[in-house]
Amino acid sequence: MSSLLARLWPSSLAGRTAFVLILGLMAVQGLGLTIHAFDRLELQRAAEARDLSFRAAALWRALVTQPPERRAAVLAEAELPSNLLASVDREPWVRPEMPPVPPHLRRLFRLEPPPPPGPRRLRPVESLSAAGGPSEVALSLRFAEGGWLNMRLRLPAPRPWHSDRFLAAFAAMSVAAALLILWAVRRLTRPVRDLAAAAERLGRDVNAPALPETGPREVAQAAAAFNGMATNIRRFVADRTQMLAAIGHDLRTPITRLRLRAELMEDEEQQRRMLADLDEMEAMIAATLAFARDDAAAEPAAPVDLAALARTVLDEAADAQPELADRIAYSGPEHLTVSLRPLAMKRALGNLVANALKYGGAARLALEPRGAGAVIAIEDDGPGIPEAALEEVFQPFRRIEASRNRETGGTGLGLTIARSILRAHGGEVSLHNREGGGLRVVVSLPG
Ligand SMILES: Nc1ncnc2c1ncn2[C@@H]1O[C@H](COP(=O)(O)OP(=O)(O)OP(=O)(O)O)[C@@H](O)[C@H]1O
Ligand SMILES: [Mg+2]
Repeated sequence: MSSLLARLWPSSLAGRTAFVLILGLMAVQGLGLTIHAFDRLELQRAAEARDLSFRAAALWRALVTQPPERRAAVLAEAELPSNLLASVDREPWVRPEMPPVPPHLRRLFRLEPPPPPGPRRLRPVESLSAAGGPSEVALSLRFAEGGWLNMRLRLPAPRPWHSDRFLAAFAAMSVAAALLILWAVRRLTRPVRDLAAAAERLGRDVNAPALPETGPREVAQAAAAFNGMATNIRRFVADRTQMLAAIGHDLRTPITRLRLRAELMEDEEQQRRMLADLDEMEAMIAATLAFARDDAAAEPAAPVDLAALARTVLDEAADAQPELADRIAYSGPEHLTVSLRPLAMKRALGNLVANALKYGGAARLALEPRGAGAVIAIEDDGPGIPEAALEEVFQPFRRIEASRNRETGGTGLGLTIARSILRAHGGEVSLHNREGGGLRVVVSLPG
């Protein structure tokens, strides 16, 4: 029972509100219908009983005015309703051992107290009555000349909702009310959906357009609060980026000075090492500045053929390293349109492919549509990354010791930048060591 309820319980706010309202409406409708039915039933039975006793009295009058020998023939000709059974007999049907008529039937059939109206000579000499069933009465009236008119009066079974049109109208009314509820609830909860969509947009793009601050007061207030928060986040991000750029820029001057001093050093070995360190520092600063600049430049998102973009990245990598060209492969659809910022995405994928080639000597990229977005996997045949460092390498300037040699020299920003770009798209990138060796980079992009 509770699992059925859990299955029926809708997940959305609009669904739940509509569900409760419609359930309430159904309960009220049902109650109203029952009250109406009871009321109607009472009236119906009263009218039917009245009609029956009227027919019975009319039958009696029709027979009592006839000579005794004609009575059976007149009765046979009389048109009686199916719930009135009558016959003329010597003996009464009503016997003393039969149960008395319950009071409510007595009232309904008007059996007492007054005797049937009319002139005295038309009244029965004796009248007996007994209950013939839950809604049935047996009546025996004696003629003055002897003999009895025996009758059974039966109320038909109650028909609370017997009119088809009534039921159809009732159903139409319920459906109309339910539709009205659905419409109103969807309208009322639209601002909540809009707010959720805006929050998601902001997660992908801090420069997403502001929400309109219109509508009912609470909605306008929520929109204004949301826009204020978005402005604060934008300012915060801009401040940080600016600070990063400023630091990077200002560090260049002391490095240049250091370089000049190093040139004057006597010890050649020390000089060579110092200059190498300074080179590395400069490279790191250049990368930081490029990162900060890119981040600040708001490239608009547009529908882009991600399959073509991925193949371009691979082609460019193959051009740069022709000796590895046969270890670079693409698999996936010919075309796949996804909304994204093309330059940034090219940079992110480029970094990942470059890593695969640099540390794994191969880059096999597989693209797969997923909803309105896509999943990309890039595999290589390298040593992989120790499990403990799989997350760590995403941090800026974090490199694994083994790769810290001239040959593979880099600044350690590649993965940081890739993740930052993908997260700005609402996506994610994660690293996994493959069973048979090598690394597998999984990129997910929502639509
Ligand atoms: N495919 C891979 N196989 C093995 N190790 C990897 C792979 N990709 C990255 N790594 C490790 O993660 C570290 C961080 O990678 P990241 O791309 O951030 O920096 P980088 O490649 O060293 O320098 P940059 O990309 O800035 O030139 C690398 O130094 C390397 O040790
Ligand atoms: Mg790299």
